[in-house]
Amino acid sequence: MPTNLTVVVLAAGGGTRMKSKTMKVLHEVGGRSRIGHVLNAVRSMDPERVVAVVGTQREQVGPHIQDVLPGAILAVQETQDGTGDAVRVALEAVGRTVEGTVVVVTGDTPLLRGDSLRAFAEEHEAAERAVSILSGIVPNPFGYGRIVRTAEGDVEAIVEEKDATPLQRDIGEINSGILAFDAAFLREAISKLDNNNANAEYYLTDTVKIARNAGLTVGAYAIEDVSQTEGANDRAQLAALGRELNRRIVTQWMRDGVTVMDPETTWIDADVVLDCDATILPGVQLLGATVIGEDAVVGPDTTLKDCEVGQGARVVRSHGELAVIGDGASVGPFSYLRPGTNLGARGKIGAFVETKNAQIGNGSKVPHLSYVGDAEIGEETNIGAGTIFANYDGVNKNRTIIGRRAKTGSNNTFIAPVRIGDDAMTGGGTTVRRDVPDGALAVSSAPQRNLEDWKARKAARGATSSQDSETSIRDN
Ligand code: UD1
Ligand code: CA
Repeated sequence: MPTNLTVVVLAAGGGTRMKSKTMKVLHEVGGRSRIGHVLNAVRSMDPERVVAVVGTQREQVGPHIQDVLPGAILAVQETQDGTGDAVRVALEAVGRTVEGTVVVVTGDTPLLRGDSLRAFAEEHEAAERAVSILSGIVPNPFGYGRIVRTAEGDVEAIVEEKDATPLQRDIGEINSGILAFDAAFLREAISKLDNNNANAEYYLTDTVKIARNAGLTVGAYAIEDVSQTEGANDRAQLAALGRELNRRIVTQWMRDGVTVMDPETTWIDADVVLDCDATILPGVQLLGATVIGEDAVVGPDTTLKDCEVGQGARVVRSHGELAVIGDGASVGPFSYLRPGTNLGARGKIGAFVETKNAQIGNGSKVPHLSYVGDAEIGEETNIGAGTIFANYDGVNKNRTIIGRRAKTGSNNTFIAPVRIGDDAMTGGGTTVRRDVPDGALAVSSAPQRNLEDWKARKAARGATSSQDSETSIRDN
């Protein structure tokens, strides 16, 4: 691996064809921004320094880059005068003479992999070239710089689309935009660039001619997997790259021992981690930093973002965000786990349950039709069907605390803040406003009255008078 490696990431251009408020490099696929994918690949080369060139919308792009790669140096290119000008700005921003190898990458290629960059940089150094080009053979080279070779096959120049002759436009070998340089040569060459071309820009690619004229070696190394160097210009192209990225991620997980029943309808973000023998059923999206444990089964039709699913847990047709599901626990169908949900081992969140900021102890169950917000439930407790944790008094959010081995009745309302003790019980329909001691039974619903022969008496009254039936009940 190169010992003194500087990587320059170009990200100053606007990307108008995205037709978006959001900068091109900040659009996401696979749960990361496009530039986030590039920076991850760059990071894995373990470079001495990374310089990112920002310009358009730098107030959004700059902080995002430093978020993903905290050590990155930001270089500001005030006007987008070309890739050569961008690299000049990058070298100046380092603040000392750059030595060794400089690799330049564009910030918008989400499929780029670190091992490809590494192989390219190693090949460049081994060949002791002034300039190496990562090239690719593409079916439709329109818009790319073409690699022009001599009769002997040596790289002679890179010619941009607008500057190319019709014959040159037929060349299928293109400049991916990823180049490697000897730093001393690059410094020298950058100072010699001019903008006498169709775009009136300083082209980084003109360094090839400069090297040739100085009798230095130039070479192109064709990448087999060209999609790694593709940068989508509009949202349709980006969606296609996103699907391809997903196909690769899903395939890799299957190779690593995960069962995916329907790869076509399974979406797994780049940062998700799955353990072996996990099973993913159709229609599942695993997003963000989600982690799925060994033997867990997720799906069908489930979305989990930044969730942790324990060993052997089961999640069916549900939606979760920032939730932890313990080993052997079960969730769904049709439940909504909001941030701060923490379901213990062997616990259950059944059908049509919404949870938020809720610690549910090991072996505890909320099986049916409930809202559990701002709650702490001990171990081996059962919450009755149709229970509402009324956590909001209109001003403040308050907590409900329930002990261990408690059994609460159906259709309860817990008016927080309130505490229900260990081994306590509540009757059906109870509204709990005051704390329930350990081992107590709380009931609050009114005693039932039965009005005997109600139907017959009502019919008789209807025949004789038009008296209001409510009054009759009170008379009874
Ligand atoms: C460039 C290459 C072309 C190559 C293609 C691959 C040059 C002259 N041409 O063309 O050979 O086939 O990339 O995609 O280098 N940028 C800046 N500052 C600028 C201009 C561009 O930071 O002043 C950044 C852009 O944000 C982008 C990258 O450089 O990330 C490439 O710029 P772009 O305008 O897409 O270059 P192309 O004309 O496509
Ligand atoms: Ca481009």
